[in-house]
Amino acid sequence: MIAVGCDQGGFLLKQEIIKLLRERKLEYKDLGTYDEGSTDYPIYAKKVCECILSGEAEKGILICGTGIGVSMAANRYKGIRCALCGDVFSAKATRSHNDSNVLALGGRVLGTGLALEITNAWLDTEFSYEERHIRRINMLSELG
Ligand code: RB5
Repeated sequence: MIAVGCDQGGFLLKQEIIKLLRERKLEYKDLGTYDEGSTDYPIYAKKVCECILSGEAEKGILICGTGIGVSMAANRYKGIRCALCGDVFSAKATRSHNDSNVLALGGRVLGTGLALEITNAWLDTEFSYEERHIRRINMLSELG
């Protein structure tokens, strides 16, 4: 299950991401926002992170105007590793090296085509399980 959330700046891109998840026949949960009315991005970061930390979702996708606000909010949660990606290389590397469990995207930064390529690359890349990457992720948890 993939939890998806956005604020008004990410609403249009969220619709495209949901279309992609449907096409890929991936189970998802749309945690809002559900229109372009002004709202606050920490609300949706909280919903997505709690859905992952409760075990209901395996991964999450968060979108705001820049992707920065939602990624800052998500990374405050212990056990959440949120990666703001603007290119395909980073999307693959953050899954392989950081085992990121949340992808953050900037709805006002990325074109739809690139955003969907990034999302596909992130979804398709497995964690490497290499010792050095496991060690570094464990070190992240020790930071608090
Ligand atoms: C909302 O206007 C905007 O600030 C928000 O979507 C996001 O870009 C924050 O980081």
